[in-house]
Amino acid sequence: MRPLIHHAKQLKGTLTIPGDKSISHRSIMLGAIAEGKTRITGFLRAEDCLSTIQVMRQLGATIHDDGEKIVVEGKGMNGLTAPSELLDVGNSGTTIRLLAGLLAGQPFKSVLAGDQYLNKRPMQRVITPLSQMGAKLHGHEGTELPPLTIEPVDHLQAIRYEMPVASAQVKSAIILAGLQAEGETVVIEKERSRNHTEEMLQQFGGQIDVNGKEIRLKGGQTLKGQTIEVPGDISSAAFFLVAGLIVPNSDLLLKNVGINETRSGIIDVIKDMGGNITISMRPNGISADIRVQTSQLKATTINGEMIPRLIDEIPIIALLATQAEGDTVIEDAEELKVKETDRIHAVASQLNKMNAHINETEDGMIIHGGSSLQGAEVDSFGDHRIGMMLQVAALLTQSEVHMKDADCVNISYPTFFDEIARLVQA
Ligand code: S3P
Repeated sequence: MRPLIHHAKQLKGTLTIPGDKSISHRSIMLGAIAEGKTRITGFLRAEDCLSTIQVMRQLGATIHDDGEKIVVEGKGMNGLTAPSELLDVGNSGTTIRLLAGLLAGQPFKSVLAGDQYLNKRPMQRVITPLSQMGAKLHGHEGTELPPLTIEPVDHLQAIRYEMPVASAQVKSAIILAGLQAEGETVVIEKERSRNHTEEMLQQFGGQIDVNGKEIRLKGGQTLKGQTIEVPGDISSAAFFLVAGLIVPNSDLLLKNVGINETRSGIIDVIKDMGGNITISMRPNGISADIRVQTSQLKATTINGEMIPRLIDEIPIIALLATQAEGDTVIEDAEELKVKETDRIHAVASQLNKMNAHINETEDGMIIHGGSSLQGAEVDSFGDHRIGMMLQVAALLTQSEVHMKDADCVNISYPTFFDEIARLVQA
């Protein structure tokens, strides 16, 4: 149990947001299969992305880290080599699902496994399309669950695939397999999800056509190493955006927050709820400095195509809604049940212990606003985003909050507790 920082009088100061997790993973993977060197700055050195580095090294990639920039010496699409051991992806869903696509067309066997949480997450969503492409992969003992075993195949065939779920991980797995397939692969998204794979593939000189929800790419392409500047992660910034809005007398400046239209749903929600937020784009055109100040908030409804644009932010948006006037409704978010933990249950059960009033529904939750949060013993369920949300909640309580499994914040934000401590004015 870790005692959380509680009863903050105000939050004041400036914070530089650490690198985007989704972009960091992809920069290593694409760098490894490109030709030539890829230089990466702003890389997120947190457990999930370090798992990707480790696994790509096991697959023969040469990756140097001088503490500032990371250099990947590309091996080309045919240059990866058979791993001598199991590939341990830790807690990282992005690593296992994207690598399933990348390894599906390779001429060697590999086994991808994760931690106790990852090993309960569904993999059928990648097994189905990859199998249609001719890949040979299966979960543990006849199930869809990891460890995932991928057998060597001669070649993959392109498919046309209509996705049954909105998932950037599944889309990206098919794209990475499509790069190795014969013919043109077409993916039709259910809802538009984060587009970092498509954008980065273009940056690496790949040909990929995106027309609304339809994505097309041909197999057999050669990628060229690039210089990648990873912007700050809006999903990490989200905890401080909300903290600045709900802790009294606060004024925070968050620097270098990546602004990508497929990720910025939380900004729309904050504006809709009446939050005091100012966004100043940087000259790079991909990130912004964002100022937030304590605000009077009103409830909102979040559903439909908005959900993939803020899927990872729903736990912290739920906390925001407990402090708004009125009832906030979140719908169409059943995907939350298969994240690092069941995030609908985790959010409702743990915040309700702290005197929030949240009803779980089949596909989301109803959050009754105007709660005065109180101290309690809470559980992160080993989920980094639940852990960080509960720490922000604790800032509002008069009495102590203790949290089980607090170290899980290292999965995406190793300096999170230090930054909170630095910004809190007692
Ligand atoms: C991610 C996609 C999302 C997101 C995850 C990162 C990615 O997952 O929740 O944190 O980097 O592609 P889904 O594809 O399962 O929606």
